[in-house]
Amino acid sequence: MCGIIGFIGKNVKENLVQGLEKLEYRGYDSSGMVILHNHNFFVEKAIGSVEKLKEKVKDIEFDGIGIAHTRWATHGKITIENCHPHFSSDNNIAIVHNGIIENFEELKLKLEKSGKYFYGQTDSEVIAKLLSKRLTINKIKRLIGKIEGSYAIALISKNNNEIYFAKNKSPLYVAQGIDCSLIASDPCCFVSKCDKFYTIEDGEYGKISLNGLEVYNRNGEMIEKQAQQLNFFFKDTNKEKYSHYMIKEINESKNVLVNLIKRYQEKDIIKKLKGINIKKFNRIYLIGCGTAYHAGLVGEKYLKERFKIDVFTRKASEFFYQNDVLDEKSLCIFISQSGETADTISAMEETKKYKTLNVAIVNTEYSTLASKCDLVFPICAGQEKAVASTKAYFGQCLVLYIMASFLNGENFIEHLMSFKKDFDFGNDNKIMQLADLLINKNYIFFIGRGFDYITALEASLKLKEITYIFSYSECSGELKHGTLALINQGIPVIVIANDEKCFNKTLNNAYEVKSRGGELVLISSIDIDNEIENNFEYYIKIKDCESDLKPLQTIVVLQKLAYYTAIKKGLNPDKPRNLAKSVTVE
Ligand code: M6R
Repeated sequence: MCGIIGFIGKNVKENLVQGLEKLEYRGYDSSGMVILHNHNFFVEKAIGSVEKLKEKVKDIEFDGIGIAHTRWATHGKITIENCHPHFSSDNNIAIVHNGIIENFEELKLKLEKSGKYFYGQTDSEVIAKLLSKRLTINKIKRLIGKIEGSYAIALISKNNNEIYFAKNKSPLYVAQGIDCSLIASDPCCFVSKCDKFYTIEDGEYGKISLNGLEVYNRNGEMIEKQAQQLNFFFKDTNKEKYSHYMIKEINESKNVLVNLIKRYQEKDIIKKLKGINIKKFNRIYLIGCGTAYHAGLVGEKYLKERFKIDVFTRKASEFFYQNDVLDEKSLCIFISQSGETADTISAMEETKKYKTLNVAIVNTEYSTLASKCDLVFPICAGQEKAVASTKAYFGQCLVLYIMASFLNGENFIEHLMSFKKDFDFGNDNKIMQLADLLINKNYIFFIGRGFDYITALEASLKLKEITYIFSYSECSGELKHGTLALINQGIPVIVIANDEKCFNKTLNNAYEVKSRGGELVLISSIDIDNEIENNFEYYIKIKDCESDLKPLQTIVVLQKLAYYTAIKKGLNPDKPRNLAKSVTVE
């Protein structure tokens, strides 16, 4: 993961800090920057969020060239030594790197034998130690001939006025403004500095200065890059009246619904939907990680309900090991908010040799995943900044609903309009009271059947991710096959029960928990009488809606439950420990 930024121009420090703040979603274990000033390197590093670095460099005012990095640790502890930038042994060259150098141990051994000293444990330091003196295009070419793995690298030297770069499997973009040049892991860093940018592709390398951009392909040939427009997606967003991005983004779910209703009536999208000839396929795979995988499970149900086709949802990181049948009759749907998740991209690359039709459901339309799939369907959620995915999950499920309904000839617009009309975000006070019951618990269980089990999985992920409470989700009917052994006095079990057809069965499973001392919480759209309610410590009524959309109506309430529990525990839900928003390593 990690985010890199390079800037040439006025107020270099401010621009680097601003860029790092925008890139913090890629990791916030530590950050650092180097600025070339009077042929010397000014270097600052800090453990923790970019805020810490900002404080350390507050009095610095330089124009010129600099590169900076925000880290999500993969190799080596979170220490100042391991914090980027890293430096060549002669201290003439500085580098920042996003990715993993897979052959770093072998290279490091060789370099150590030749007398090079390593101050840290990162794979990235090897890149710096392979270089010395000044940078040239040929040196970059030779460098990428030696390193294996994923990388977006920005490099500066004391003797050059350019930022050099190289890219393989980690995102990298460059841009030129009127009086500045930039390089970054995400074009969002270019907002208000320029209106066009260039995407650097795998195997490409080059340099950028105030005078222009030079890019070379794998064969060492200089190439002309096509500029892309920086569109509204990159518009800077802030927390507005909210104290955290997470709660703001949960509350934006309804906007996502509105955006999708509008966007999915437009000609280009209808044409793409028509481009999926569902009758042609024998099997459909839905592939994603984490929350996106859960959206896949929801989509699996939408598709299976409507078509007599085998549908399988796969965790992208496990896709290689399934030995699934893949051929031209397979439709692969890759789901991702960022479109940069390494496992999802690798799974997609793997399918290419089988000539599957590859569809991307993404929030980030300029992403690697989007650029490599045959058809791209946007989630239209706008930037999602909190690490915990909320409105993007909502959008992913909705796009899958639209896709399944459209392919089945249903009037999805009518259904979504009525969903929108009655949509309910839940009563925050009631949700906060439930959070009060949970904050001091060490274990929390979620159970449900069918769609409700998928909602249990997602609610449990959200809760553990930002509250650090151990949370486990289980199918209601499976409890007695093992998990029930974990239930004793005071263990909370959140029962999600929206389905009339199996409501009584789920209730019975809940009572099995209660008999063993478990504390029951009911989350349900079904009207219950007092007798039933008395069995539960707490009950939240979910607004009723059509059954396919109940997972969405329910998840917003459970996302808020995770949010308020984190707040009450004094945790920052936007930046949970050990995690990053965009997971660009396998
Ligand atoms: O960008 P993606 O949707 O591909 O990310 C996939 C997961 O890393 C992501 O959904 C993760 O599980 C979230 N942090 C969960 O809230």
